Amino acid sequence: MDVPILTLDGPSGAGKGTVSRLIAKQLGWNYLDSGAIYRALALEITEKKILQDNISEIVKVALAMDLHFECGDDRLVKLNGKDVTNLLGLENTGNIASKIATISEVRAALLQKQRDFKQSSGLVADGRDMGTIVFPDAKYKVFLTASALTRAERRYKQLKQKGIDANLLKITADIQERDQRDSERQFAPLVPAVDAVYIDSSTMSIQSVVAEVLSLVH
Ligand code: C5P
Repeated sequence: MDVPILTLDGPSGAGKGTVSRLIAKQLGWNYLDSGAIYRALALEITEKKILQDNISEIVKVALAMDLHFECGDDRLVKLNGKDVTNLLGLENTGNIASKIATISEVRAALLQKQRDFKQSSGLVADGRDMGTIVFPDAKYKVFLTASALTRAERRYKQLKQKGIDANLLKITADIQERDQRDSERQFAPLVPAVDAVYIDSSTMSIQSVVAEVLSLVH
């Protein structure tokens, strides 16, 4: 089955989620938010009080978890039947996700779950290793990034809009720490695929990023 796949990899806050969702909607393709899968696993092990170094238990949970995504106007993610949409977005969930994402056995356990998102219409896959590991044969590959400060400012604005108290310096430090962990890890580090188109969105609007990515597909 020759399914068209567009991979969008890059660091957190580069706008991958928004851009991927808009493109998937325009093209009528399925959307994979692979970060949400790592985040769901982080939630599950926290709830089950499994330590981050207990690899065999984390793998068991990874293989058993039942995840369900609904992509209507409002996104809904159900983990084992429970709505976890808001919990997934928490800073702490992202930090735990980034730690367990360094474990090769965990990455291997989540591989098939991600590949199952491939559907006949097409797929937009958003993550860190979509173009390098999960879908190396994808037809279209993009590496979307932005400066750490731009990404921190975007995150700061998002939190403020939600009425959540936020500190720009702390967010910048967290982003830099997560970037470093994601880029320097031994397995599936955050690197552009050799055949990816590199886009720096620091001074671009979402609409212009979407237009540039769509021009690759059309
Ligand atoms: O993209 P998001 O911020 O939701 O991802 C949370 C964490 O999950 C990332 O910091 C990264 O460590 C990990 N991740 C990954 N591979 C992916 C997607 C996410 O390692 N494909």
